[in-house]
Amino acid sequence: MKKREQWKSQIGFLLAAVGSAIGLGNIWRFSYMAYSYGGGAFLIPYFTALLTAGIPLMILEFAIGHERIGSAPLAYARIHRNWEWLGWWAVIFVMFGIELYYTVIISWCVNYFLLSFNLGWGQDPNAYFFQKFLAITEAPGQIGEVRTPILFGLIAVWFINWIIVYRGVQKGLELANKIFMPMLFVLTAILVFWSVNLEGASLGLKAYLTPDFSKLSNPRVWIDAYSQIFFTLSLGFGIMIAYASYLPERSDITKNAYLTAFINCGYSLFAGFAVFSVLGFMSYTQGKPISDVVAQSIGLAFVAYPKALSLMPGGNLFGVIFFLCLVVAGVSSSVSIIEAFASAMIDKFGFPRKVLVSILCILGFLGSIMFTTQAGLFWLDIVDHFLTNYGLVVVGIAECILAGWLFDVTILQRHVNRVSSIKLGRGWIVLIRYFVPLVLGVMLIGSIRNEVIEPYGGYGWAAVALIGVNWVLLTILASVVIAMRPWRTKEREKRGRGHTR
Ligand code: PHE
Repeated sequence: MKKREQWKSQIGFLLAAVGSAIGLGNIWRFSYMAYSYGGGAFLIPYFTALLTAGIPLMILEFAIGHERIGSAPLAYARIHRNWEWLGWWAVIFVMFGIELYYTVIISWCVNYFLLSFNLGWGQDPNAYFFQKFLAITEAPGQIGEVRTPILFGLIAVWFINWIIVYRGVQKGLELANKIFMPMLFVLTAILVFWSVNLEGASLGLKAYLTPDFSKLSNPRVWIDAYSQIFFTLSLGFGIMIAYASYLPERSDITKNAYLTAFINCGYSLFAGFAVFSVLGFMSYTQGKPISDVVAQSIGLAFVAYPKALSLMPGGNLFGVIFFLCLVVAGVSSSVSIIEAFASAMIDKFGFPRKVLVSILCILGFLGSIMFTTQAGLFWLDIVDHFLTNYGLVVVGIAECILAGWLFDVTILQRHVNRVSSIKLGRGWIVLIRYFVPLVLGVMLIGSIRNEVIEPYGGYGWAAVALIGVNWVLLTILASVVIAMRPWRTKEREKRGRGHTR
């Protein structure tokens, strides 16, 4: 029997899971949310979401991958033969949705990494980013041309992705994360210590951490806290299922899930210190209130930060480290997406990894090109909105229904308890069967309501419907078609990891 690939060590698996979880979202998305949703008070919904939904679902995904021993489609097919399509949908929409623009944002970071050396964005980083770098058009329909610097960055990003996934689980993903993660922690620590000592840093930290409890009565805060937790932990993408399927039989599932989740969220909290100290410094040197220097999501990294770097002594070195962190965090997430898809194709069709990954990276690269055009930012924004608000949420709900209702979830519970140090009680089952699908359902209804009231981002119905809805429908169609194809490997019938123990 052909052996399933396996992690060399538990720490290798943990670092890879952490590498997938820690990504671009931890650095800017978290900081911005914390700031706008009541500073320190945001930690209450954030940690509530982590404990009541994030960790239980992470344990579920690890358990599914580990007990059923397969990538998402194979694992789902082994749970219930009618549900293979769901696994395909998860891995398809992240590979041909999220991954395509995620790599483009990493390419921006590569460009800004290079620009940092001589603060190449000049006096007006806002104009530089939107008018020169992206050369953004007026609307999603005006594509314009491909931006060459972004295209070159993209080639580099896909090349790195390709090398890592091509080399397989141990020599590629595990090795890369064993280098990347410690490097990321050290670099981030340098940034934090540097930035908290800047003049005015305390202004920023005050804005970051001072709790404003009145914000917590707004349901939006809670919904966004839950969606941030799902996104940041890479849940609902089939990634954690594939990663757990490469674990040896004796592996502590719950401990790894807790560690992954806490390291990820701890990292966000920690990186927030650097982000806000720098904003405080800028507010101090420019004599403006903090609210004027805080920019939303993308603006934070590519406009507010560059501005601050130009004012800071040694700002270019700071910038080099900052953008390097973003690149490293981004790449360790993007390889996990490719692996989730590749692993599914290998399980079902038995393709040789090297050929498959090479073709996949070429296709992925070609697909990302449309996000490097002058309308790229619009497209990216719309696709991101639909995939994170619908794709991810729907897969999450379906996952809970499948495992909790259509399958005897105590099989997973007993399996986890047999191999893990921290045992699962009835509470976990209640969360998986009732609570998590309920919360996700509320999020889904809330999003749909907003959509109907106002088309997303004020783009106009045509653009939103064409790009967003079609993407969702097309990917579902593709999933059903692939799920109906016959299995080319004996994977579905056989059991076990193929390792002698
Ligand atoms: N968890 C990653 C982040 O916070 C995002 C991600 C999304 C990773 C999808 C993998 C897949 O940035």
